[in-house]
Amino acid sequence: MIPAIRGTHDILPGQVERWQYVERIAHSLCSRYGYVEVRTPVIEREELFAKGTGETTDIVQKEMYSFEDKGGERITLRPEATPSMVRAYVEHSLEHALPAAKLYSMGPMFRYERPQKGRYRQFHQLDVEVFGLQDPAVDAEVIDLAWSLVEALGIPEAELVINSVGCAECRPRFQEALLKALGDDLPKLCQDCQRRAKTNPLRIYDCKVPADQPIIDKLPHSVDYLCESCATHFTGVQGHLDQWGIPWRISHRLVRGLDYYTRTTFEVLGRTLGAQNALLGGGRYDGLVKSLGGPDRTGIGFAAGLERLVLALPEGRGAEAPPVVFVAAVGDDGRVEALKLLRELRRAGISAAMEFEARSMKAQMKRADRLKARAAVIVGGDELARGEVTLRDMRAGEQRAVSRSNAIQSVKTLVEG
Ligand code: HAM
Repeated sequence: MIPAIRGTHDILPGQVERWQYVERIAHSLCSRYGYVEVRTPVIEREELFAKGTGETTDIVQKEMYSFEDKGGERITLRPEATPSMVRAYVEHSLEHALPAAKLYSMGPMFRYERPQKGRYRQFHQLDVEVFGLQDPAVDAEVIDLAWSLVEALGIPEAELVINSVGCAECRPRFQEALLKALGDDLPKLCQDCQRRAKTNPLRIYDCKVPADQPIIDKLPHSVDYLCESCATHFTGVQGHLDQWGIPWRISHRLVRGLDYYTRTTFEVLGRTLGAQNALLGGGRYDGLVKSLGGPDRTGIGFAAGLERLVLALPEGRGAEAPPVVFVAAVGDDGRVEALKLLRELRRAGISAAMEFEARSMKAQMKRADRLKARAAVIVGGDELARGEVTLRDMRAGEQRAVSRSNAIQSVKTLVEG
């Protein structure tokens, strides 16, 4: 046996129904909020993520699946969707066709992380991005979509946390204050933090090393260093969330693990997930489109981990299969007619099943029970000679003869009634 690669998963019957349920709700909500789907390749040039996701991130430094292809090109399996979405927006000049572009995408991502519950090496994201809109109402609408998704899935006890990390104007002042506050404590922090202090001091907030936490807890907060326009913007976002009755709290440590964020950042946390508790995360990235060679357009978005949504989904959700009709055959003539009826049912939009091998009536009805069939149609014998079939209501345990020519209509009335 050649096993699957560590950190990757087959999604099997019994689980796949929950996935399809999450995907259905995601597609339907995105389209209700005015987002259109985009599908980008799973492979991109390595430099797209080095530049887009950012050189100082864990993703680029430690987690990318990168390789040289046979043509000598450096290729990366996408670790996140945002740089690909920006590339597609820029490459196809979508700012002309869609001045305010609201796009979404769904698919697999790859990160070489240490696998644990909720953290995998191949995982899937719903990714949502808006280009070219700056108003705080847009930030709030994106957060509303994220929150509505979690609500529509019935995920209990979710929590929305928000923060603002400022812009190119006010961020340097915050970073300076951060380094000043660290002062003599810097050498006491872990090696990673020492490196972060040099490359991107905000990253220190990502540190999970327990010994570092008391020092980090005392560091200044980005919201206290916002310039006037960032502060006004952040107040605006909060005002909309309040008006719409979406509960939130500020998390000062929410700087997010990617380099491109400006202003609003947010996450929705789940209570049942253990250490990997972020169901989704995102924020504004106003300089990214330009830095990837595009026009000066703002951006904001989020990505939800589909594995985590499926894990947090209440028991029983997604299990609702459409009613099945079982077709049972009596004798060889019955079998020919039953196969014909089976196909007619399916073409009429009804899920239908039948035993392929000839079996006794008892065995066939047992199978209908196991399939939890809503109805069974028994085809064959004298009835068929009279132009009739037997329609059995499996729930009520009652049956009656119906005409063969009207069988589909009779089944429909029973199943849909
Ligand atoms: P992220 O926080 O890196 O952001 O990932 C978003 C979500 O993807 C996480 O909250 C989590 O649910 C899921 N996720 C991340 N890594 C893993 C993993 N190894 N296994 C399972 N699930 C995982 C981004 O990716 C940004 N591109 C989001 C964004 C879009 N920001 C603006 N637009």
